[in-house]
Amino acid sequence: MKILGIESSCDETGIAIYDDQQGLIANQLYSQIKLHADYGGVVPELASRDHIRKTVPLIKAALAEANVTASDLNGVAYTAGPGLVGALLVGASIGRALAYAWNVPAIAVHHMEGHLLAPMLETNPPEFPFVALLVSGGHTQLISVTGIGQYQLLGESIDDAAGEAFDKTAKLLGLDYPGGAKLSKLAEMGDAARFHFPRPMTDRPGLDFSFSGLKTFAANTILKNQNQNQNQNQNQNQNQNQNQSQGMVDGQQLDQQTKADIARAFEDALVDTLVIKARRALELTGFNRLVIAGGVSANKTVRQKLAELMHSRGGQVYYPRLDFCTDNGAMIAYAGMIHLKQGQHSPLAIEVKPRWPLNDLVI
Ligand SMILES: Nc1ncnc2c1ncn2[C@@H]1O[C@H](COP(=O)(O)OP(=O)(O)OP(=O)(O)O)[C@@H](O)[C@H]1O
Ligand SMILES: [Mg+2]
Repeated sequence: MKILGIESSCDETGIAIYDDQQGLIANQLYSQIKLHADYGGVVPELASRDHIRKTVPLIKAALAEANVTASDLNGVAYTAGPGLVGALLVGASIGRALAYAWNVPAIAVHHMEGHLLAPMLETNPPEFPFVALLVSGGHTQLISVTGIGQYQLLGESIDDAAGEAFDKTAKLLGLDYPGGAKLSKLAEMGDAARFHFPRPMTDRPGLDFSFSGLKTFAANTILKNQNQNQNQNQNQNQNQNQNQSQGMVDGQQLDQQTKADIARAFEDALVDTLVIKARRALELTGFNRLVIAGGVSANKTVRQKLAELMHSRGGQVYYPRLDFCTDNGAMIAYAGMIHLKQGQHSPLAIEVKPRWPLNDLVI
């Protein structure tokens, strides 16, 4: 059985073909990062238009890569939400139309279920049950997973997602969008002892996250240090308080070491917070397997610290290969395959859900 997967929820067009006998037989990805870089974030209208340009050529490329034709396919899976409505509609319309034309089932896939199942594409996939920590550009969620479709949300971010906090803090430091990975690289040269950032919401019970305060803490630290620089340069110590209150946050004014030290303090605080909450989720559920997925699961420190946590508990951590941490078509093709095998597919109407809680998987 071969399933075509189409991912178009945000700024990546991902197309893949998954075969239940051979595994992944095609994987095509086009990232729009350059298109949005000048704007410092994703411009929804530009994203939709670019998905329209790229989706069909990438489907043709995937068929050629797998050396199959449309008549070899048994279904078409597409991301139906959550995500940008215009971007989702491109993948859903093309996916639904192709399924109709090819007379095969169409399967609407939940984007976060795709991320959650991405480690299943690896050679040593996790068994159920497990705790999933989804850390991406739009989500930070802890989920109890007892089987396919059996997802119970344990906690989530009440404001910025982990990836969003990485990107916003990177921007304050003067790094290009999306800055998460660049901030992390910079943090490698940082001195962990110079600044200490808070570990938000760890002093009270519960599994929710809040990262927007970390970004503010970073902004204040940058401002304080850039003003100190300015004041040293201009020898205007008497105006320091005035400068601080009126100044604009501009990480470019910091020396490279200070930038790296701030990046390190931010990353350590965010990762420690993830570790503390993941430990609580494992204690609450009694599970001893942890899956991490989503763009931030590509982060070295995240992987290392969560591996240490699981090692200390005699458990196991699972994550996707680096390419499948961020958005891709492979995870959508895989999730579509699982649902089709369970007899689930979608009606003719093209429906997308820009907001779609994971524990409400019926479309
Ligand atoms: N090494 C890294 N360290 C930290 N953050 C990273 C790293 N690599 C990628 N990211 C972050 O991951 C995010 C992108 O991940 P992903 O593609 O899963 O998110 P998304 O699809 O935009 O959001 P969602 O899946 O919630 O809709 C960005 O915020 C990016 O900065
Ligand atoms: Mg994603």
